Amino acid sequence: MASDRTLAIIKPDAFGRALAGQVLAHLEHAGFRLVSARVLHLTDAQAREFYAVHRERPFYGSLVSFMTSGPCMPLVLARADAVATLRKVIGATDPREAEPGTVRKLFAESKERNAIHASDSDTNAEREQAFFFAETERLRTL
Ligand code: CMP
Repeated sequence: MASDRTLAIIKPDAFGRALAGQVLAHLEHAGFRLVSARVLHLTDAQAREFYAVHRERPFYGSLVSFMTSGPCMPLVLARADAVATLRKVIGATDPREAEPGTVRKLFAESKERNAIHASDSDTNAEREQAFFFAETERLRTL
């Protein structure tokens, strides 16, 4: 059965433009319950580790610079079929390709400064939740 929890990050572009509340409202409206949240400023080492899967990509250095440019907001979110549903709700990586009404269509500035990250599989959702949150914070019942 698909996991009912996933990890999102409201990225520095959206957080810095004071859009965190609007993004959260959008996610809650889509049926997600907020399990845990933090505001933090990623270090260079943390951003490199979190996005290590992209380390060979040409945009890796720029992505790390962007993700360390200001505070961001990791979230643990819950609802049925959490990973696939959240990916649908946030829209395509590039906001120009995102469906109307998705978070990225509404709030993203570019393919890199795209407002929000969401885990792309149950395995990554588990790893990414554990990256930011203790077990007691992410497994608590709602
Ligand atoms: P995210 O869903 O967090 O996963 C990896 C991130 O890398 C992605 O969102 C974008 O912020 C960024 N990214 C992906 N592809 C590109 C690209 N072609 N150019 C610049 N940034 C990208």
